[in-house]
Formats: sequence, structure tokens, C-alpha cells
Amino acid sequence: MSPSAAKRDLFRPAIAKMQGYAPGEWPALDAGVLKLNSNENAYPPSPEVLAALSGFNGELLRRYPDPQSTDFCQVVSKTLGIPTDWVIAGNGSDDILTLLVRACTEPGRTIAYPTPTYVLYRTLAAMQPAETIEIPYEIEGDYWQLPVEQLLQTDAAITFVASPNSPSGHIVPKSDLRALAAGLSGVLVIDEAYVDFSTENALDLVREFERVMVLRTLSKGYSLAGLRLGFGCAQPTLLAGLKKVKDSYNVDALALRLGAAAILDQDYKNACVEKIGAHREELATALREIGFWVGRSHTNFLLVKPPGDAKTIYQSLKAQKILIRYFDEPGLNDKLRITVGTPEQNQRLLNTIQPLIHN
Ligand SMILES: Cc1ncc(COP(=O)(O)O)c(C=O)c1O
Repeated sequence: MSPSAAKRDLFRPAIAKMQGYAPGEWPALDAGVLKLNSNENAYPPSPEVLAALSGFNGELLRRYPDPQSTDFCQVVSKTLGIPTDWVIAGNGSDDILTLLVRACTEPGRTIAYPTPTYVLYRTLAAMQPAETIEIPYEIEGDYWQLPVEQLLQTDAAITFVASPNSPSGHIVPKSDLRALAAGLSGVLVIDEAYVDFSTENALDLVREFERVMVLRTLSKGYSLAGLRLGFGCAQPTLLAGLKKVKDSYNVDALALRLGAAAILDQDYKNACVEKIGAHREELATALREIGFWVGRSHTNFLLVKPPGDAKTIYQSLKAQKILIRYFDEPGLNDKLRITVGTPEQNQRLLNTIQPLIHN
């Protein structure tokens, strides 16, 4: 090509105009920052995971990992009581969300979801690109009503429903999910990233409906956000398309080994989840006592409305080395999302937040 040739655009138009996903801030471990902004688990991974890490066979790093994640999928299958070929593993559940969008949508098709919810659904649609249909939850006090009828009208290629939802923390009733599963023309993805903290799950809808996927992660209940491992459960007909578009080796050998060890140690995960549930209620009570509105949560975080300007409180906490999440969006910009920490961490948060309210 001649040196004077006109330069072409670097990016596809969809990428040039989209906003990238903005994750929570990531301070270094030794920065003394209390990180309550990404809903990581307050407790460390299971000792079984750490033992598997120290005993890990280096030969498994020399080889490519199992492209089908067979052993890990078998552990999931036994634990959840579904066939092994109904499980697909991903580099975090974000990877499986990407596969779904890549395999099921194209320009001209839509992706629908109730809002507010996990912002990545919007980002993935913009990348594809696919149009989004965002239908607001009907919110009455603490009650979030899924707009079932409106979602049923969309003819979307994919409908995403996070349950428990982020940033609200509420769970969607199974009857609403079943109505969607029965009536939608496309795929229903029930994103259960926070299910370990909840008493309900929708896994049985996967058995009932060929076009339903339930998505899980090891980032929350299993304290393995840094490992990047999630999985989807669906009937093989749906998984067949996703397998065509995944990277051959989408989950690394270490994640597969440690993830299996984590899932096999249900007792440890359940004990952590129980502790966090108790700390969540203690933190909610303490925040209500100092004038916060606190939403009911089935997760490891709280959505709260402070008696003061939310953004100012977020910034003041940040200046004092405590990170929580502020969303600069209509309907959320008067609220804050706070990950539940250990009792000591929650106390540090309360001690720092209290003077901000009363001054
Ligand atoms: C609703 C929801 N789905 C999926 C994810 C992503 O999970 P993973 O770490 O497995 O990619 C998150 C992460 O915060 C989430 O909030």
C-alpha cells in the first residue's frame, strides 16, 4: 500500500460509538483499601482449594487444558443432579454471557432485560451489535415487579433476567420466570450469579424448557472471583451452538482443578454464605439506625439510600480508603451498593460513614 493511502477507521462503527464496561476500582492488595465495590466474598476460598493449588501438577500447565472441561462439568453435574452434557464452563460467567450474545443475536435482533440490572448485558449487546429493549422494573418500596407482559412482547433473541438481581438484591418469583420461559420466542437466561446467598433457584426450569439457561459463577459464593470460572446449565441443543463459538480452551487448567475442589466442598461454601447472610442483616440494621433506607437483599450486598447525597458519600468514603459502588444513572444516583464484609470491615465502614451523615 502506498504511504499516502487514506487511513481506514480503526474500529467497527459499533465499537467506535459504544461505551466500554466500567468495572469497580481495583486497588493493590497492600494499599490498605477496604474493597466493598465488586461483591467479592468477604471470606477466603476453601482450604481444599488452597490445598489443590499447592499440590497442582505443573505438567497440566505445559499442556493445553481440556477443551470440554469434562472433570469440572462432571463435578457440577453430580452436585446439581443434572446430566454432564447439560453443563458448559466459562472464563467467568461473563464468558458464557458473551457466548450467548455471539451465538444467538445479530444486527436486527434484540436483547431484552428488565432494568436496573447487570450493566454488562448492555455492553455485550453494543459490541455485537444488537439492539436492546430495556424495560424498567415496577418498584414499590421494597418490591420489584418483573415486567413479564412487556418482556413477553419483545420477540428478543435473548432475554436476560438476573435473579437475585444486581444492584437491587431482590429475587424474581419462580412463577414469573416460568411464565417467561413458556411464552418467550427466544432464549431466556436466568443469571444466578448470587444464587448461593438465596434460598431459591430456577434450575428446574432448565429441565422443563429447552430454551432456558441458568448461569452460575464461582466468583461470589465460592470466593473465587480472581480465578475466573463460571458455568451455564441448559439442554444440549442450546449448548451445541455455544460450543461452536467458544474459544477452544476457554477455561484454563488451574481454574478447572481449583473450581472442582471448591464445588466439592459445599460445607465450606455453605458456612461462608451463612455467616455473610448474618453480617448482611446486622449491617442493614445498623445502617437503618443511622437513617439509611436499605433494600431487602438475597445476596452479599445491600442497595441503600443514604440520608444525604449518595455521590458525596461515595467520594468521601473513597478519600478515606473505602470503596463502594455508585451508579451515575437515573433511578440509582441517589443510592449506593455496598458489598457485605466481615464484621470488622462492616464496623470500619459504619465508623467512617456515620460522621458523613451527621455533619
Ligand atoms: C448479575 C451478575 N452476573 C454475572 C456476573 C459476572 O460473574 P463472573 O465473575 O462469573 O464473570 C456478575 C458479577 O458481578 C453479576 O453481578
